[in-house]
Amino acid sequence: PSGRGKRVCMAKLIIVSNRLPFSVHEAEDGSFAIRQNVGGLATAIGPYHAAHRNCVWVGWSGDDPERYSDEQVESIRAAYESKRCTALFLSAEQIAGFYSGFSNDTLWPLFHDFSHEAVFDAKTWEKYQEVNRLFAEAVAPVAQPGDTVWIQDYHLMLLPGLLRERCPGVSIGWFLHVPFPSPEIFRSLPWSREILNGVLGADLLGFHTVDFVNNFKACVKTLLGLDSGDDGRIALEDGRAATVDAFPIGIDYNLYRRTSHSSLAKAMRRGIEEVSGKRPGLRYNTSLSAEGSAAQEASSRSGSWWSHHADEEMPELNLARSAAAVDRAKPNKIVVSVDRLDYTKGIPERLRAFGRLLERYPEWTGHVTYYLLATPSRESVETYQRLKAQVDQLVGEINGRYSLLAWTPIHYITRSLPIKPVCGIYAAGDVALVTPLRDGMNLVAKEYLACHDDRDGALVLSDMCGAARELTEAFIVNPYDIDKTCEALHDALEIDATEARRRNRAMQARLKARTAGTWCAGFLDALHQVADPSLADRRL
Ligand code: ADP
Ligand code: G6P
Repeated sequence: PSGRGKRVCMAKLIIVSNRLPFSVHEAEDGSFAIRQNVGGLATAIGPYHAAHRNCVWVGWSGDDPERYSDEQVESIRAAYESKRCTALFLSAEQIAGFYSGFSNDTLWPLFHDFSHEAVFDAKTWEKYQEVNRLFAEAVAPVAQPGDTVWIQDYHLMLLPGLLRERCPGVSIGWFLHVPFPSPEIFRSLPWSREILNGVLGADLLGFHTVDFVNNFKACVKTLLGLDSGDDGRIALEDGRAATVDAFPIGIDYNLYRRTSHSSLAKAMRRGIEEVSGKRPGLRYNTSLSAEGSAAQEASSRSGSWWSHHADEEMPELNLARSAAAVDRAKPNKIVVSVDRLDYTKGIPERLRAFGRLLERYPEWTGHVTYYLLATPSRESVETYQRLKAQVDQLVGEINGRYSLLAWTPIHYITRSLPIKPVCGIYAAGDVALVTPLRDGMNLVAKEYLACHDDRDGALVLSDMCGAARELTEAFIVNPYDIDKTCEALHDALEIDATEARRRNRAMQARLKARTAGTWCAGFLDALHQVADPSLADRRL
């Protein structure tokens, strides 16, 4: 942090978000273990919180307390406190209305331009207000004059206004980790004015891109009749002003670079390379290199079932035989992707593009393996259940249609993995397919590049996310265009290593300069510049 940031650190920073950076899980022996949460918000701000002792984090426990005894709830609370987190416990009814309902079935689709999926329900709106008040009651007693409260994301858009009433002398910031829609979409929300008035309780409102800032300003003009200056200041009717600006979030570049060299990540990478035939090992290798032939011979000698039977009876299923029509000198390649299973991530479209590659370019048969890490998310919401069924089906169809005895085109992993194996997957990928239909920023694209520091590896990136504004040397695609995505994937697989390194170096330089840490410090500095100047002394 800058000198100014350091002085500010003497007072308290209270981060408030729906999801805490950790969750507490019951182990088999009944004890409670802490696990890192996935999602852009947790991975970006988690390290900042961990590194600053004057920073506390308030958020939902992520669980239904009715599952636990009072004693267990106290153990969970204590486990969070040991990590400087204050856990709020919501009832099943509040979780259904506030989290699954208004946050994830109304605001999430609306903000991601999926307005046809948005549900408008007065009952869930009521729960949204109730839980925002609950957060206000939890934060207000601990926020002292001179402190800073930094509220995160779309779950807590009424909280800035509620804290403004309750906490004089506190600087209030709010950051949106998802896109902000145009007025044409936002105004369809029956409670759009209440939401805008709530969030304007903050001194500083941050978005990932200038486009989202402009959308917000246009909504404030259309729905509240308020103008914004070129400096982002919006003069409010109560005499205060709120400021809006763009703060594109970064990643902890060195953390991902370093972690990709950890022994676990390296082992993961090696395993993936063996299974996909990129290095000799488990798989019946199709390469004609000396190493490949040796591995192939060893595999035949070991008496595999297919070497005795399939060669004679089902040659088309045997890679070594069926590949006769294929360029056998072609190097084997690995495609990777890492997502929460969310309909905004474009996973079905991406699978269709991968299937089209196998159809249109049969020479990739046996030579390209796709590692698809997609962890189920928000499983109580019906749209997510439908998506899971759709992805399961598509993976099954593609694997069923193209698999050979010793080659499966898609390895589909639905578990949530910790950072080391995730970095191993990134590092193994010759190509990362990052194709959200809509995304505020998308950190996965950035993490992939950090794991390819000083190496080749190609990024196929959707034009529909904030990251595309910064990572302009990637293969940029419209994720809805299956043909063009298939062609971009083909080009990325064929890219020459020198050219790949050249592109990566340009993008990596930007990522090293704008990290998650500089992002946090930059937002907080800007907040303290626009918040009540009379507080400056107290923040020292
Ligand atoms: P979102 O915030 O919508 O989930 P981002 O791409 O911005 O999307 O951030 C996702 C974060 O969560 C990244 O840090 C990524 O490494 C992590 N992540 C996403 N999916 C998984 C997964 N299946 N397993 C482990 N980590 C994941
Ligand atoms: C996105 C949102 C976060 C959210 C995360 C995971 O990154 O911006 O606010 O925490 O997804 O979603 P979940 O519903 O599990 O918290």
